Amino acid sequence: MVFNASFRYLDSCLRVDKLDIETIVHEVGTPAYVYSLATIRRNFHRLTTAFAPLNARLHFSVKANGNLDVLRALSAVGAGFDCVSGGEIYRVLQAGAAAEDIVFAGVGKTRAELAYAIKSGVGWINAENIGELAHINRLAGDTNGEAVRVALRLNPEVTAHTHPYMATGHGAAKFGMTADVIRGLLERPEAYPRIRIACIHMHIGSQLGNTNATLAALEKLLALTKDYPWIKTINLGGGLPVAYRFNETVPAPDQLAEQLSHRLQGYDLLLEPGRAIVADAGLLVAETLYVKRQAGQTIVVIDASMSELIRPALYGAHHEIVPLRQMEGDTVTTQIVGPVCESADVLGADRELPQLEPGDKVALLTAGAYGMTMASNYNARPRPVEVVVDGDRWWVSRRRETLSDLTLFE
Ligand code: LLP
Repeated sequence: MVFNASFRYLDSCLRVDKLDIETIVHEVGTPAYVYSLATIRRNFHRLTTAFAPLNARLHFSVKANGNLDVLRALSAVGAGFDCVSGGEIYRVLQAGAAAEDIVFAGVGKTRAELAYAIKSGVGWINAENIGELAHINRLAGDTNGEAVRVALRLNPEVTAHTHPYMATGHGAAKFGMTADVIRGLLERPEAYPRIRIACIHMHIGSQLGNTNATLAALEKLLALTKDYPWIKTINLGGGLPVAYRFNETVPAPDQLAEQLSHRLQGYDLLLEPGRAIVADAGLLVAETLYVKRQAGQTIVVIDASMSELIRPALYGAHHEIVPLRQMEGDTVTTQIVGPVCESADVLGADRELPQLEPGDKVALLTAGAYGMTMASNYNARPRPVEVVVDGDRWWVSRRRETLSDLTLFE
């Protein structure tokens, strides 16, 4: 059985590329995140190919996966980076990427973060309010006086077709500025002499089920830019969806690229994909701790939880769960739960799975995006190890946290 180009059963063992995942976790323990660099490169290549006719520049959204080896691999194939905090900028620079390849975004950048970004020489700042422009202008003067290249983030007042927590383009959302505020700024660019406004940015949401809202929002964006022909760059953010379920299909990137191509004639395009590059390149491996039958249910307690992967608890997100060793026999409807003291700590409800026993290992698929980056120490759980696989090599990219890490700052 093949899950994608990197993860498949071979001789009844779940493999990442050619490697047996059970052998890896035998050494590193569970829970463990495992990423395939080959898939990450392939996904990046697929997007660059799809958007090549639009001359697009891709900035990987670091919030999806900030692992240093992942960042290094993406930098090596020519990706830029979308960062939303001083911490993400720091990680990208630590990974060896050039500051000019960074877009600094975010609804509430502190002055310290803006100063750090400007001093580092990031390529772009995506500004989301007028107060921020005043800070940037002043900080640019304090640094070297050079103009900072800025994109203004438009809130297009369009509701995206996605989970409400991931929709960012409706008027009531905290993100961006409305068209009339942006118009006001574009009318008087000289008000900020150390800022060069060169782009309109927009991101209406993540895991976008179709392209309708993007196109509607783009119409609004283009109605704005047509009056200011010196704006030559448009940044459409991220949002490209991935399939989380077996048999699910999502719009392909080339479909969006084709719909954009005639609309964006004469503009340079920037994109900030996160999920579409890393989600299916990663999985989370866990071990079965206990099995109990209760209230007519089969409850399987594994050693991963909402602390390691919060998406099911937070968004009701679905991640397919499969055993590391293919098992024969009847399946049973199973509740896969974690050890955390919250009823929301259910990683998979009503799953048809073979009868799992303590010690059996399972993989939660499509966990390479917003998995480890959203992991926490809730219930004082040390965060898991991250393993990176590259061809027939694998290594521990980030070690498992230890108990003493939990009191590091006390
Ligand atoms: N650009 C901006 C301005 C964003 O806010 C985001 C995601 C992206 C790019 C990348 O979006 P992507 O290509 O990954 O859809 N934690 C949620 C997703 C939150 C996304 C936040 N912003 C999840 O686990 O699904």
